[in-house]
Amino acid sequence: LAGLGQPDTLFSSGDIVDSAFWQAKWRANEIGFHQTDIHPLLSAHWLSVQARPARVLVPLCGKSRDLCWLRERGHTVVGFELSEIAVTAFYTELGLVPSVQRAGDFVCYETAGIAIYCGDFFNTSGALCGYFDAVYDRAALIALAPAQREVYVATIQRLCRPAAHGLLITVEYPEGLVSAPPFSIGEPEVRSRYGQWCDVAVNERRDTDVKGHPAIEVAYGLVVRGS
Ligand SMILES: C[S@@+](CC[C@H](N)C(=O)[O-])C[C@H]1O[C@@H](n2cnc3c(N)ncnc32)[C@H](O)[C@@H]1O
Repeated sequence: LAGLGQPDTLFSSGDIVDSAFWQAKWRANEIGFHQTDIHPLLSAHWLSVQARPARVLVPLCGKSRDLCWLRERGHTVVGFELSEIAVTAFYTELGLVPSVQRAGDFVCYETAGIAIYCGDFFNTSGALCGYFDAVYDRAALIALAPAQREVYVATIQRLCRPAAHGLLITVEYPEGLVSAPPFSIGEPEVRSRYGQWCDVAVNERRDTDVKGHPAIEVAYGLVVRGS
């Protein structure tokens, strides 16, 4: 099973993780985070998160096949991704031809129940993309530098309907073991960022590898408080 990333060749520790960083990663095809298989923590835990068909938000989605898995469970799936290379590759690799429309600061690609808004997730709003019953975050929070996380979580909170559910997958590894991203994010940080507005439960902790080093991957179940 592929872990999170390969040893870096193009980037070294100390790079600023901003839009230009991710665009360059996609241009260089340095996408070790991408998995051709469905993420095992998604298939293991999603049913306990959101069994009934729902509108599912997938922030920072890359060209993840997890979008298809969610669609196959009957959900309407909405992803957000900065890189046009990633978005076009997602549809091309599946042999799908999406409709393409401008939507505010984004270009929205859509077909077969999967829409991907290409642009900066931080610029979205409920008025633009609607509100969500569920959120799936794999390698999104952990892709962001500490200074970006507060706005990221606030954006998710704004887009969630009351009582929305979520599955959040993080990694934990000893400080300095690898050059981030992915960033190591422990349970205390998850609880401090989500605990004020969600019930947070650890669904599973399992061994993984990050850039060839042993690490722990954690799946959290989230339930937004409020009815
Ligand atoms: C570590 S990858 C994870 C991709 C996907 N979740 C997966 O599991 O394969 C993070 C992705 O977030 C995208 N990204 C980073 N910052 C973003 C932003 N502000 N808005 C939208 N996408 C962003 C990057 O281009 C990259 O594809």
